[in-house]
Amino acid sequence: MLQIGMIGAGFVAEFHRKALESVRGVELAGVYALDGAEELAQRAREAGLGDTKVYRSVEELCQKVDVVCMFIPNFVRLEVLRKIIRAIEERGAKIKGIICEKPLARNMAEANRMVGLAELVKSVGVSTAYFENQIHMPAVQNARLQLQSVEQSIGAVHLTRSAEEHGGPHEAWFWDPKKQGGGVWCDMGCHSIAVGMYMLTPTGKPPDHLEPVSINGTMTLLKWGKEPWVSQLRNRGVDYATTPAEDYALVTAEFKDPDTGVRSVAQATNSWMYDAPGLRLLMEAFGPGYSYTINSLESPAGIFISDIAAESIVDGELALEKAQATRGALTMQPNEPDLYGYAAEWRDAIAAFEQGKDALLNFRYGREIVRLIMAGYMSHEKGKALDLTDASVLEELETYIPLIQQGKGSEVL
Ligand SMILES: NC(=O)c1ccc[n+]([C@@H]2O[C@H](COP(=O)([O-])OP(=O)(O)OC[C@H]3O[C@@H](n4cnc5c(N)ncnc54)[C@H](O)[C@@H]3O)[C@@H](O)[C@H]2O)c1
Repeated sequence: MLQIGMIGAGFVAEFHRKALESVRGVELAGVYALDGAEELAQRAREAGLGDTKVYRSVEELCQKVDVVCMFIPNFVRLEVLRKIIRAIEERGAKIKGIICEKPLARNMAEANRMVGLAELVKSVGVSTAYFENQIHMPAVQNARLQLQSVEQSIGAVHLTRSAEEHGGPHEAWFWDPKKQGGGVWCDMGCHSIAVGMYMLTPTGKPPDHLEPVSINGTMTLLKWGKEPWVSQLRNRGVDYATTPAEDYALVTAEFKDPDTGVRSVAQATNSWMYDAPGLRLLMEAFGPGYSYTINSLESPAGIFISDIAAESIVDGELALEKAQATRGALTMQPNEPDLYGYAAEWRDAIAAFEQGKDALLNFRYGREIVRLIMAGYMSHEKGKALDLTDASVLEELETYIPLIQQGKGSEVL
């Protein structure tokens, strides 16, 4: 039984706790977080996930577990990873794997440090997993499997469109571009560009097989800079009048297959102004003569709640992540951790760690996604498509901090 330790006990940690209920060979042994650790540990014990204990520091947790997960805000990633590495190097913690939620970092300088820190403990058998759940979605995996022979006889997918959209994040730190790294492009574009690139990747090739050729990005503030929304944010401690970020992003990236020279295109659309039933993940893949579509809001299950009954609703998100309404005809997804790929990403990481290997997606892969995210922002700032085969552009990206991330979003939005 691999012993899992979670750092962070908020929104995503609870999703992962639920996902672990359908993963074999693991126990949720410990939790450390500034808030919510006791509650998460109690829910884990009640769900039969083990004798989950609460620890008082990263160091203490690392002494008691085999796998340590960073389910913490983006702005504390590096300091927490440093503590994990110190616990391994200086205090002999026997960690087999380190998991980091998306995005790996807020910019390339941080991403390089994350990868560099993980490299320090590779020689003592510590593997990494970058958690990008959408690549592991059963719908994505099954569509690819079903189309494998078609792809091999007629050619790989050459166009993908992917979107992740909802009505806006749950915690104030996500809205702070300095803390989070930007707006919706940094927060959710990292999912959409990753899954878009993955759907273009020929079967059997690694997830970073395709070479980025160019990128064209547009960032816009459509809803949350206007009244009454901007005042609503102010009441939550977020000042979008002075420190705005994009709530809509449209990015097109072109790739080249280094084996065949074939070009392909991924289009990513992300928004925090999707005033619709709740979170929607949308994927479309087009190959020569075939295609597939995935829409996470299409469910075989639905519920209806009248105005009278709505008075007693406790939590609309029990039916659907980021649910925006509590009455009328509502979408319900009965197993979101499975639908969104959380359970499958755990199975992949656990199997890899047991064999002393990195997961399908590791920290180096996560850094490539950060590069594409930064390139999207730079393209928007420069007002033109970027040539990602140009060494000078790639060099500029290494030290680039988007104006939006610097808190100067009003100059470019
Ligand atoms: N895969 C997905 O779809 C998905 C969904 C949501 C969030 N995420 C990612 O997961 C990460 C966490 O997001 P969240 O929504 O759970 O955030 P959250 O704000 O809901 O929870 C953060 C948790 O981290 C704890 N924390 C904060 N600073 C800490 C520190 N220095 N040491 C220990 N604990 C600390 C908080 O107390 C809290 O328990 C983010 O990077 C986010 O991008 C991914």
